[in-house]
Amino acid sequence: MKYGYFDDLNREYVITQPDTPLPWINYLGCQAYFGIISNTAGGYSFYRDARLRRLTRYRYNNAPFDFGGRYVYLRDNESKEFWSPSWQPTRHELKDYSCRHGMGYTVIGSSYKGIEAHTRYFVPLDENLEIWQLTVTNKRAVKASISAFASIEFCLWDAQDDSTNFQRNFSIGQVEVEDGVIYHKTEYRERRDHFAYFATSAKGGSFDTQRDVFLGHYRGWDKPATVEAGQLTNSIAHGWAPIGAHQAKLELAPGETRQIVFVLGYHENPVAEKFDPPGSQTINKKTVKPVIAKYLDPKEADAAFERLRQYWESVLGVFQVNTPDIHTNRMVNIWNAYQCMATFNMSRSASFYESGIGRGLGFRDSNQDLLGFVHMVPARARERILDLAATQLPTGGAYHQYQPLTKRGNNDVGSGFNDDPHWLIIGVAAYLKETGDWSILDEPVPYDNAPGSETPLYEHLQRSFRYTLDRLGPHGLPLIGRADWNDCLNLNCFSDTPGQSFQTTTNKDGKVAESVFIAGLFVHAGQELAAIAKHRGLDAEASTYLSEVAKMDQVVRKHGWDGEWFLRAYDDFGAKIGSKECEEGKIFIETNGYCVLAGIGLEDGLAARALDSTRKHLATKHGIVLQQPAYSRYYLNLGEISSYPPGYKENAGIFCHNNPWVIIAETRLGHGDEAHDYYSRINPSAREEISDLHRCEPYVYAQMIAGRDAPTHGEAKNSWLTGTAAWNYYAIVQWILGVRTALDGLEIAPVIPKNWQGFTATRTFRGVVYKISIERKGDGNSIALTVDGKPIKGNVVSPPADGRREVVVKGILS
Ligand code: GLC
Ligand code: GLC
Repeated sequence: MKYGYFDDLNREYVITQPDTPLPWINYLGCQAYFGIISNTAGGYSFYRDARLRRLTRYRYNNAPFDFGGRYVYLRDNESKEFWSPSWQPTRHELKDYSCRHGMGYTVIGSSYKGIEAHTRYFVPLDENLEIWQLTVTNKRAVKASISAFASIEFCLWDAQDDSTNFQRNFSIGQVEVEDGVIYHKTEYRERRDHFAYFATSAKGGSFDTQRDVFLGHYRGWDKPATVEAGQLTNSIAHGWAPIGAHQAKLELAPGETRQIVFVLGYHENPVAEKFDPPGSQTINKKTVKPVIAKYLDPKEADAAFERLRQYWESVLGVFQVNTPDIHTNRMVNIWNAYQCMATFNMSRSASFYESGIGRGLGFRDSNQDLLGFVHMVPARARERILDLAATQLPTGGAYHQYQPLTKRGNNDVGSGFNDDPHWLIIGVAAYLKETGDWSILDEPVPYDNAPGSETPLYEHLQRSFRYTLDRLGPHGLPLIGRADWNDCLNLNCFSDTPGQSFQTTTNKDGKVAESVFIAGLFVHAGQELAAIAKHRGLDAEASTYLSEVAKMDQVVRKHGWDGEWFLRAYDDFGAKIGSKECEEGKIFIETNGYCVLAGIGLEDGLAARALDSTRKHLATKHGIVLQQPAYSRYYLNLGEISSYPPGYKENAGIFCHNNPWVIIAETRLGHGDEAHDYYSRINPSAREEISDLHRCEPYVYAQMIAGRDAPTHGEAKNSWLTGTAAWNYYAIVQWILGVRTALDGLEIAPVIPKNWQGFTATRTFRGVVYKISIERKGDGNSIALTVDGKPIKGNVVSPPADGRREVVVKGILS
């Protein structure tokens, strides 16, 4: 069953039933001020860092789900009845409920007893605030007297401390109210130079700022006492829980529509100008007032919304495609690209599943996220690359995470994840292929952020490569360290103590356990680095890389091949993991996908056998599981992977992040049907009809779908913030559709299903618009290209020499 539908023309998913199996969320903001918002107005906002600068409260894992939000209440002052047009928190039975999640905005509304109301929520570009535009229409034949309330609960900034340190926090909350604007200024008196505010365009209304007054004793957000009574009380919070609540009265003639604007924002003052008058304890509001006044004006709000629309139009316009498959089209053209923006911005910090307090930006995650993001806003990708590289260690290793606010490596997690450095090479290669901006390689970048340690970025890549060569194990394969891509394959951990972190506990010296996955990654990254070196004229260096790659390729064949598939690893005893000799965990997806993606065994049939085995042992109708058989018990020598019940997460779940490795691998063998079939199995749009089973949003990928060993096979979890977004985008666009960025131009090499007659696409690449059409004339993948009517050799379209801005590319597949 479905809970809504795709409105592709408007780039929206429209939810028509509020009680979705899980909260179906969207993101507001795409630069510095962000929020998550569910289909029933739940969620919270923050400035840059979801932990350290959280503006509003949200209650994770609450019952009912999804509490804390941007709540609007309407009260009919004659019948005294009140309800929420967004369903939560009052949960009345509404007419015509809809939630339109769009690109950077969400509109939620409904109708109740003849009163229609919609709220449009969005964050204007280049501003640190969010706008709520509430529109109320009286559809009754008689006039209506309505009170509209809007409310949020302030978080005392540090979300971790906010949810634990009550002995202090109940005493520190402070607000100011001036001209009807509520200012949240907790800790502003001491070391904070920032405050939050909540304003309304309705003049002369009432407010409340003390939660317990607004709600009343022992009441929840579903039944605030003041809303029930129809009158806010102008309470001022002293400690406890500061909130922002506004009330406006609307007298509506039949058919009349009124709009009220609310603005919730974040503002910083220079330290020396925090107070006004100086020496007082009152917030200096000189610079914030004009901003507030501007966006409370509905015309300005509409104009800001229009700019946001145009922004997305241009960002998504970089690549648009029209194929015979609607699920491919809408994911590529709209939602998958949009999700790539979210993963780039959030990394793995704030979603319905990521609490925003746990994790910084992952080194490996953020580098991989670039694969799906770099074409949208290359300048931001560049900045991200330089930030990431600055947390690299002199050894070539990397902090596993960095904190977005400080841009420093996270010491708590540290380093030693031996795959990490290679993702930097892959991220930089993606950037170079997209932009041709070779200057980035000469940027001076420090190690571990230490001033004076700068080298050109290029040297960071050299050290990344070297890092593995300095850490080879007994078989000549890369040592795994704390973990490779699979954070849960902890071969040096041996943890028998509850609560210990599998990722940072290390009880073995790490000199034995080896990763075949890192070997595959090394082969891939090494080829990328060699191509970069060659392009820079460093031929000798390039051939050194290639000879190391060839050596590793040999080692993989010798010690990383199990007969029918690639092995996964060797454990601390030197025993095989992912082998037919194992009792459980005989075959893994990662090496079989990645080694083939990297080109190992393409010529001599190993690759084909690895993919046959993958199909035979790992593929299910809901996607490809991570390994088989699942681990039925905890293995001290394997770590977290065996901690999960069978079928979930890394223990034989369908870990959607690595399915595209197999998809790309299939294209490398020319298998368009197989590649697109795998692509479709996990494509959320293609799974929309089974929303009751899938449960997560049908418009974005989830990290995991429960595997065949799980009692809930097919159920998705952990949507939005996952490397799945970038990798699937990359797989479908660059490998199946084959519109692929290359160092010297745009490569066209489709490996599409046999029953596709072709497709058309528009790609803006290095300032030139490529109008591409592909036509199938035979069953194969060989392509003959013409550019502006002239046949070209090979399949790389170089930038037009004569400065033309538009090029027509036609490809015939036979
Ligand atoms: C999570 C992590 C990612 C890791 C993956 C597999 O998605 O964010 O870094 O590679 O799990 O364990
Ligand atoms: C857990 C998760 C894994 C994730 C890791 C990050 O181990 O299972 O997916 O990568 O946490 O720390």
